[in-house]
Amino acid sequence: MRVLSGIQPTGRFHWGNYFGAIRQYISLQENDQAFYFIADLHALTTIRDRDQLVTLCREAALDLLALGLDPSKATLFRQSDVPEVSELTWLLLTVTNLSWLEKCHAYKDKKGRGLAADAGLFTYPVLMAADILIYDSDIVPVGVDQVQHIEVTRDIAERFNSLYGEVFVLPEARVLDSSAKVLGSDGEKMSKSRGNVIELFESPKKARKKIMSIRTDSTAVEAAKDPDNCSVFDLYKLFASPSQIEALASRYRAGGLGYGEAKQELFELSQEHFAAAAERREALAADERRLDEILDEGAARAREKAAEVLGRARRACGLGRTSS
Ligand code: ADP
Ligand code: TRP
Repeated sequence: MRVLSGIQPTGRFHWGNYFGAIRQYISLQENDQAFYFIADLHALTTIRDRDQLVTLCREAALDLLALGLDPSKATLFRQSDVPEVSELTWLLLTVTNLSWLEKCHAYKDKKGRGLAADAGLFTYPVLMAADILIYDSDIVPVGVDQVQHIEVTRDIAERFNSLYGEVFVLPEARVLDSSAKVLGSDGEKMSKSRGNVIELFESPKKARKKIMSIRTDSTAVEAAKDPDNCSVFDLYKLFASPSQIEALASRYRAGGLGYGEAKQELFELSQEHFAAAAERREALAADERRLDEILDEGAARAREKAAEVLGRARRACGLGRTSS
């Protein structure tokens, strides 16, 4: 089974990205043929600063590797290192109904807010379809918000196949565990667009400051508190063992525990949780050559498959030289 997913380098990864997506990508590398890429072509519709994009791509790769993505098991690469994807995007555009794209949310939301959307954002789901179809992907693990794009991918593949023969494998979305929705410091879904995130590898000082600023109610220290109604406790559960969860819950219910103390517990546990990854990250960051090698090797493996599938698609629709 080929598993494939992409993640946009539009900001530094945060706890939500880790528990909601990255951790699950990493566990899928054990039993499946996993392809993961950093979606820098997609990020071009958001990041317009060259240096920022370069840095964010590099940071994204370092984060994924430090967190446990293993290049000997999974293939990690940059989307733009596989130019075949851009060619396939054109072939797919020619079989895509405008109406399929008009209903897609990234474009619709922007337009709905009265903002000018470019053609890149409008055709974004077609680039995503090319990302998926070019590797004969079977399973695409994504957040709920991306399921619509996998449906468009299937529509495009079916249309192409019905016109030209069985060229593409029809992929299935695997919706990532949505119970892993992580809340940010304001109690809303953690998201970089909301500015409520706790990044994965920020300095302990900054992380502590953000944790201390998590919104809580004004119950007095001595009063009993409801752990099930507290963002700090929700976040604590992501990191803690069942016995640690039970112990902190009892302290909440007993009264005498201030939110500051609970936040300190959360801070310490989260630091511990990512300590080994932070160390790996530091070592990797110091070896720029190694990181480039990993991404180059990943791109070479991805390109081999991409060239095969693109060749199939080109021949099917009558492009290029057909004699052998
Ligand atoms: P952001 O909302 O910060 O821009 P993205 O939309 O780039 O994050 O999300 C990348 C991946 O991380 C997606 O698969 C998404 O489902 C997951 N993710 C993002 N935020 C959260 C969250 N707060 N809880 C759980 N998963 C999340
Ligand atoms: N659009 C996805 C997101 O914003 C990222 C992405 C790009 C992707 N291409 C993909 C995800 C292909 C899965 C498969 O999260």
